[in-house]
Amino acid sequence: MSDAASSTATPAGPVTADAPCHVAEVVGVERLYQKHRKAPVVRALDGVSLTIPDNQYVAIMGPSGSGKSTLMNILGCLDRPTTGSYRLDGVDVARMNDEDLSRVRGRKLGFVFQAFNLIPQLTVQQNVEVPLFYQAVAPGQRAIAAREALERVQLADRLTHRPAELSGGQMQRVAIARALVTKPALLLADEPTGNLDSKTGAAILALFDELHAEGLTIIMVTHDDSVAERCQRVVRLKDGKIDRDETGGAAS
Ligand SMILES: Nc1ncnc2c1ncn2[C@@H]1O[C@H](COP(=O)(O)OP(=O)(O)O)[C@@H](O)[C@H]1O
Ligand SMILES: [Mg+2]
Repeated sequence: MSDAASSTATPAGPVTADAPCHVAEVVGVERLYQKHRKAPVVRALDGVSLTIPDNQYVAIMGPSGSGKSTLMNILGCLDRPTTGSYRLDGVDVARMNDEDLSRVRGRKLGFVFQAFNLIPQLTVQQNVEVPLFYQAVAPGQRAIAAREALERVQLADRLTHRPAELSGGQMQRVAIARALVTKPALLLADEPTGNLDSKTGAAILALFDELHAEGLTIIMVTHDDSVAERCQRVVRLKDGKIDRDETGGAAS
């Protein structure tokens, strides 16, 4: 390799003409709901455009019914926009069929929920292996990756425990390991400290800060201003529209 080539930073993935510099690019997204043909149309998202650059840490806020969950479902490839476009890590996902969408979800996204959503019958290690199981990763590889992710959240000494044998904070760390095990392009967290006492919640937020410092892109729904303050950017929704979009919090 020549000096010129070796001094040029190249992305790890395949280089294409439209290589992504943004992890998520939402343009003019509407999501309409209609219970039945004669029912009124609910405009849950009403022309939302949002570009999330690599390694940004973003809070989504807004009153109940403002469209936060609808937006997170679209960002998380659990739902599609009625109109508008969504590119995730360079891939146009707005018109994908369910099968392709679920494959993208498994490869590119990690999810952390308020209620942890661990499977009670499985051990800690097995819970973390679940996303790799769906990608048909071989058992030996799954075990290695799961242990590595559990080491990252400092739970390598709890591999064979069941969720019921853990504290809330430990359960959320298992859920974070499960979200990280596929090395996602984007981590989506919905009120991740909502079920935790303030001290445990602070430890989980410190872990998010570390993951962000290590390069992860994070979008988090929160009702808590003190949580949002740790993010670089706060996007506030109101009536399905972006009401305010402020970059420049303490962490940026
Ligand atoms: N499946 C659905 N069917 C009909 N209306 C829905 C559905 N999901 C959400 N809505 C409506 O869309 C709007 C936004 O909801 P949501 O995204 O859940 O808001 P938030 O998460 O901010 O509380 C609300 O008016 C809600 O009633
Ligand atoms: Mg909601």
